Amino acid sequence: MSNSTSAPRKILVTSALPYANGSIHLGHLLEYIQTDIWVRFQKSRGHECHYVCADDAHGTAIMLRAEQEGISSEALIERVSKEHQADFATFGVAFDNYHSTHSEENRYYSELIYTRLRDAGHIATRDIEQMYDPVKGLFLADRFIKGTCPKCKTPDQYGDNCEACGATYTPAELIDPVSAISGATPEVRSSTHYFFKLPDFTDFLKQWTRGGHVQSQIGNKLQEWFESGLNEWDISRDAPYFGFEIPDAPGKYFYVWLDAPIGYLASFKNLCERTGIDFDAYWRKDSEAEVYHFIGKDIVYFHALFWPAMLHGADFRTPTAVNCHGFVTVNGAKMSKSRGTFIKAATYAEFLNPEYLRYYFAAKLTSRVDDLDLNLEDFAARVNADLVGKVVNIASRCAGFVKKLGDGRLSTHCVEPELVARFIAAGDAIAEDFEAREFGRAVRKIMELADEANTYIADKEPWALAKQEGREQEVLEICSVGINLFRQLMVYLAPVVPAMAEQARQFLQLESLAWESRQDALLGHEIAKFKPLMTRVERDKIDAMIEASKEDLVEERKLKEAAKGPLADDPIEERISFDDFAKVDLRIARIAKAEYVEGANKLLQLTLDLGGETRNVFAGIRSAYAPEALEGRLTVMVANLAPRKMRFGVSEGMVLAAGNDDGIYLLSPDSGAEPGQRIR
Ligand code: MSP
Ligand code: ZN
Repeated sequence: MSNSTSAPRKILVTSALPYANGSIHLGHLLEYIQTDIWVRFQKSRGHECHYVCADDAHGTAIMLRAEQEGISSEALIERVSKEHQADFATFGVAFDNYHSTHSEENRYYSELIYTRLRDAGHIATRDIEQMYDPVKGLFLADRFIKGTCPKCKTPDQYGDNCEACGATYTPAELIDPVSAISGATPEVRSSTHYFFKLPDFTDFLKQWTRGGHVQSQIGNKLQEWFESGLNEWDISRDAPYFGFEIPDAPGKYFYVWLDAPIGYLASFKNLCERTGIDFDAYWRKDSEAEVYHFIGKDIVYFHALFWPAMLHGADFRTPTAVNCHGFVTVNGAKMSKSRGTFIKAATYAEFLNPEYLRYYFAAKLTSRVDDLDLNLEDFAARVNADLVGKVVNIASRCAGFVKKLGDGRLSTHCVEPELVARFIAAGDAIAEDFEAREFGRAVRKIMELADEANTYIADKEPWALAKQEGREQEVLEICSVGINLFRQLMVYLAPVVPAMAEQARQFLQLESLAWESRQDALLGHEIAKFKPLMTRVERDKIDAMIEASKEDLVEERKLKEAAKGPLADDPIEERISFDDFAKVDLRIARIAKAEYVEGANKLLQLTLDLGGETRNVFAGIRSAYAPEALEGRLTVMVANLAPRKMRFGVSEGMVLAAGNDDGIYLLSPDSGAEPGQRIR
C-alpha cells in the first residue's frame, strides 16, 4: 500500500530569498522549480505543506542601487518584489506566501533571536579597523575598494585579491587605494562590531551535521570547515545601512545575512497570521513538523552552520534538512551575458513555454549537489520527444474515437485491467523518487510508462479497426484504456507541469489529479473535447531568446554607462588606455530614415547617412522617440563597431544616447557639424 495513507505530515518548505536588486534568471529558477515540484508533490499526497519565500531586501548593494536610480530603498524593493512575484507566477512557482525581509515580522524575530543569543552569552563586541569613504560617509566592504596590488604592482585591483598575480591581502595593504564608489582616498577608521560566537556551537554543529540533515557531499564540506576551525561571525554594520538597527546599539545594523534566514520565520509568521496556522507547532523546540530549506551550493555556510546555530542558541527547533542543489550552466558553460546565455526569467517567457523548462529541469534533477547543464539542443529534443511525442500523443490519438464512438463517454468496463493496475501500482515507486528529490528517476519511470501506453495503442491500431464494420465497441474500449493510462501519467506529471496538468484535468473532467485519486479507473466517464495540451519547442524561438538576452546586456550597459554612479566597480567600466579609446571611430551621422521594427518593442531601425555611405543600425530608443521626430536629425555614431546579427537583421554600428529608467537622450552635435565628420 502506498505510504500516503498514513497520517498527513506537517511540512514547511522554503527556497532561498532572492536579492531585491536583480532580476530572476534561469539559474535561480532551478531552485524555485525544484522546490515547487517537491511542494506540489507533497500537497498532491494530501500532506499539510506550506511553501514560503520572500525578497532579501537589506544591505549596502540595495541601498546604493536605489541611490543610483534616485529612488528610496523602499521604493526599489517594492518594485523588484512585484517583478519577482510576476516571474515566479509565470513559471508556476506557487508560494503560499511571499514576503520581505524588510517587514515588521522580520524585525520582531531578528530582535528576538539576537537578544536571546546575547542574553545567553553568544554575542561578543570588539573594535575593528576598516576602510572608510570620507566623501560618502560610509565604511567600505572590500569589493568597494580598488588600488594597486602590493605584490605585483598591477593597478586597479579589488580590495581583497589581485586578479593579475592571485595575491590575497587586506584593503589596507593596497597601494594608493580609492573608494570605488566616490573615487575618494579611503581612511582607516575604527568602530565597534558585534560578533556571533559560532565556535560556541562547534560540538552541537558537528553532531547536527551527522544527524542526516545534510547531503553527504555537504557533510564532507562541513568536515573541512570544522577542521580549519569555526570563526566568530561579524553580524553588525555601521550606519548608513539599509536594514534593522541592533537593539541597544544605536547606529549599528544587523548585517543582511543575519536577518535573511530569519526571513523564513517572518514569511511563515505572516502566513500564519493570515490563515490561522499555529506558528509554534512548526518552530518550537520539540516540534514534530518538518522544516526543509532548499538552497544553492554557494550559500551552504549560512544554512548549515550559522542558521542551525542561531536557531539552537535562541531556543527554536533546527531544520529537518537543508537540501542543496548545484548551479545551472548553459550549453556546458557558466551563464554568460555576452554569449546571451544569461537568460532572465522574463526574457525566456517571451519566447518559450515555462513548462518546457520545468520538465527539463525535473528530467535532469537528482538529490545531489551537482551542477545541471541546460543544453539547449537537448532541451528542445527532450521536450518534443517526451511531452509532445509521448504523453500528449496518447490523448490525441484516443480522444477523437471516444468522442465519435462513445459520444464523449469512456467504455463502462475496462478491457485491460492488468495494464491499468500496473500503471496505478507504479505510482508508489514514482512517489518514492519524488519524495527523495530524485526527479530525474521519477521522470524516467513516467516516460517508460508512456512508452508502454503508446506501444499498446500502436499494437491495437484502433485507427485501422475503426475502418472495419462492427468493431466500434472494440475501438472505444482500446481508446478508453488509452485515456485511463494518460490520466495516470498526468497524475504523476502534475507536480512537474502544473499548467499542462490543469488542461488535462479539464479535458478529463476530473475534480483533481491528486495522487490517490488515480486509484479509481474511469469507467463510463464523460470527457471533454480534446485541445492540444502542448506544442513543440521551436528552435528559432531559442535563437531569438539568446539574441534578446544579448540585447538585455546592451540595455544594461547603456544604463550603467549613463549612470556612472556607485556601480562604477563593474568590470564593464574598467579603464582603457588612450590608444584603446582612439580605436573607436565616432562619426557625425544624419538620420536619413527611422522606422518601427515589427515585433521589437524597444528598437527603432535607423538608416544613417555618413556623408555618402549609409548604415543600418538598430537602436533601443523606441520608448523615447517617434520615428518621424528623428528623421533629418544629426547624431553621433560608433562607425567601426563589428556588425552584429540581431533578430531583425544586421546592425552596422551604434548611436550614442544617455539614459536611465526615466528617459533616453540621443546625443546631437552643435550646429555646423557635417555628416561623416570624425569626432576627436
Ligand atoms: N539572498 C541570498 C539568499 C538568502 S537566503 C536566507 C541569495 N540570493 S540570490 O538571489 O543570489 O540567490 C538565490 C538562490 O538562487 C540561491 O540559493 C542561489 O544559490 C540560487 N542561484 C543563483 N544563481 C544560480 C545558478 N546559476 N544556478 C543555480 N542556482 C543559483 O543568495
Ligand atoms: Zn598582484
